[in-house]
Order: sequence, then structure tokens, then C-alpha cells
Amino acid sequence: MKLPSLKIRHLESQYPVIQAGMGVKVGSAELAAAVVECGGYGTIASVGLGDVERGKYHFVEECNNKFSDEIHRAQERLKGKKPLGVNVMVALSNYKEIVETAVKEGVDFIISGAGLPLNLPEFVGDADIALIPVVSSARAFDLVLRTWSRKYNRKPDAVIVEGPRNGGHLGFTMEQIEHPETCSLDILYKEIKAAAEQAGLPDLPIIAAAEVASRADVERMLSYGYNGVQVGTYFIATEEAGVDKKSKMVWINATEKDIVIIKSPVGLPVRVLRTPLVERVLTGEKQRFTCPYRCLRSCNPAKSLFCIARALIATYQGDVENGLYMTGCNVAACTKIFPVKEFFDTLKD
Ligand SMILES: Cc1cc2nc3c(=O)[nH]c(=O)nc-3n(C[C@H](O)[C@H](O)[C@H](O)COP(=O)(O)O)c2cc1C
Repeated sequence: MKLPSLKIRHLESQYPVIQAGMGVKVGSAELAAAVVECGGYGTIASVGLGDVERGKYHFVEECNNKFSDEIHRAQERLKGKKPLGVNVMVALSNYKEIVETAVKEGVDFIISGAGLPLNLPEFVGDADIALIPVVSSARAFDLVLRTWSRKYNRKPDAVIVEGPRNGGHLGFTMEQIEHPETCSLDILYKEIKAAAEQAGLPDLPIIAAAEVASRADVERMLSYGYNGVQVGTYFIATEEAGVDKKSKMVWINATEKDIVIIKSPVGLPVRVLRTPLVERVLTGEKQRFTCPYRCLRSCNPAKSLFCIARALIATYQGDVENGLYMTGCNVAACTKIFPVKEFFDTLKD
């Protein structure tokens, strides 16, 4: 089967693959640029790029500056090659400013999830940028469609559907997560497609996010009807992903039995590997920390068992004792560190 290209708004990639924006610094400029060069959509993760010490006093400015630097690094390497975009989590306290920075830097697309991006069009204005919400149910998608239409006369350019087995934060109840067959990606496709058709968007690209680590996985998602896939966990093991090698080896050495779901300070369940920090959190032990800068709207530092910003920075630095290792269910597919090109080479005809 020849794989189709993926068209979103005025953009087109050779392969129907979007690299997931993964924070902190997994979805780096290097990974995003390499993916674009290989024929996919490259996505820079916007969360947690600022320096902690400077962020204590100038959080918004520090995050904007470091985010701009990251986008510039990718743009300089790509010299106009597209599509290069960003991922912005709705849960961020500086969501508006980060989106505005992405617009100022002229990215090609914005993917926004971890909450419903109901006011994303407001911060993008007339800029010619593809807007791609992330949802986990037709109900959530319908709310995005109706809000964007009513308040901004705007339609999404594509939609990403995160399933119950994907990496990162999960837009499902614990009951659904324990019974993923009730809300699997093939079921979700039909519901999202129906919602898109009802909104007069029969050709809207619908992208599946979860458990893609091979050409066969891409083909399976296309057979459900999806127009493309978003790849997260598998790309953590790439040479280009921004985290330290010691951390990459944690994912590489893990299997599905090492996975556990905990409550994240983001306010959603999150799938993670059982590492020392997670073992401590599971006992209910509150880690001692002072909140550096209120990066999340939903986090109550007095009640949170740990600081997710510090934990993800520790992961970036290779501090296995204190890091948090978000993962999808297909972590066992990560068996070695490889150049991202190796994955794209398997997609060639
Ligand atoms: C380490 C890690 C970090 C992530 N960070 C983000 C993020 O910053 N923003 C976001 O919207 N999703 C994030 N996600 C979710 C991914 O964007 C993606 O939807 C998901 O990983 C796809 O499933 P997969 O991991 O099974 O491929 C993250 C996932 C992982 C594994």
C-alpha cells in the first residue's frame, strides 16, 4: 500500500505522520526539524523551556524568549521547509502568551490539547496558521466546533484524536482507561467523523494519536478511516529527541508492566513509568517543593504531591531518581536509540 500524503489547510507532508509535541524538551527543535526533513509534520513542544531561576521572576517573558529561540533553531535549519508547528497545552497559565509567540514566529500549525482549546482562535486572529485541537470524545469535539463557529467564525483545520492507551495526559475517566475497548480509536473515529460531517466538514483530516511505532501501525490507523497518525512515545527513543540519554534508556528498558496511571497536577490522569518518584507519589508521600512559577492553571501546589515542572526538567537532565516518565502503552516498541529517519525510511514505497 502506498501511503497517502497528509494535507491540512495549505500544508502537505509526504507521509501521513505528525510528530507529537512532547514536553519537556522531548519534542525539541532538532526532532521537529528532522521530522520535517523526513517528510512528516514536525512539532515543537512549548512547555517548560524557560530557565527555572529566571522564570521565578519573569516567567512569561522567559518562556516566550526560550520558545522563540527553539522555533528559530528549527526554522534556521529548515530554511522555509514545512510543515513546522508547535504544541501548546491549554492547561498552561501562560497559554495566551505562548500561542501569541507562536503566531509572531510564523509557525505553520498549532496543536492544542490537555484541556479544550475553546479560545485558541482568539489568540491567533487572522494569521494563516492551521489550528488543530486534540480531543478524546465526540462530545468534546462538538463543543470545540460549536464554540469556534459561534465566537470566532472559525473551523478546525484538522483534529487529533487521543485514545485511552496513548502517552501523556488522558481525557478519559479511570473506568474508561481500565476498559479501553469501550473507547478505542476505531470507535472514536466513527464518532468524530459523524460530528465533523454534522458540522459540514466531511473532508476534515482526522488524526489518530496512540501506539504507532511501525508502518503496520500507520496502515492499521488508516484502515479505520484516519487520515494520519501522531507519533509520541516511539519517537522519545530517537537520537534527535531532546532528553538526556540516561532518560531515554529508562523508556527503552521498560515494558507495559512498568506502566501505572497517576493523577497529574494538570488535573488529569497521566500514564507514567514506575520510577522512584512515582513510587514515592504512589505511597501518598508529598514531595517537598516550593512552586517556582505557577506554570499550570489547574495545579494547587499546596495539594499536589509533586511539582510536574521540576519532575519533567529532571527527566530532561537524566535525573532518573526525580524524573517523571510519561508514556504510551507501546513503550516496549522502544528498544534502541535510532535516528528518526530510520522510521520514515520504512514508510517509503
Ligand atoms: C513524554 C511525553 C510528553 C508529552 N507531552 C505532551 C505535551 O507537552 N503536550 C501535549 O498536548 N501532549 C503531550 N503528550 C501526548 C502526545 O502529544 C501524544 O498525543 C501521545 O504521546 C500519542 O500517543 P503515543 O505516545 O502512544 O504515541 C506527551 C506524551 C509523552 C509520551
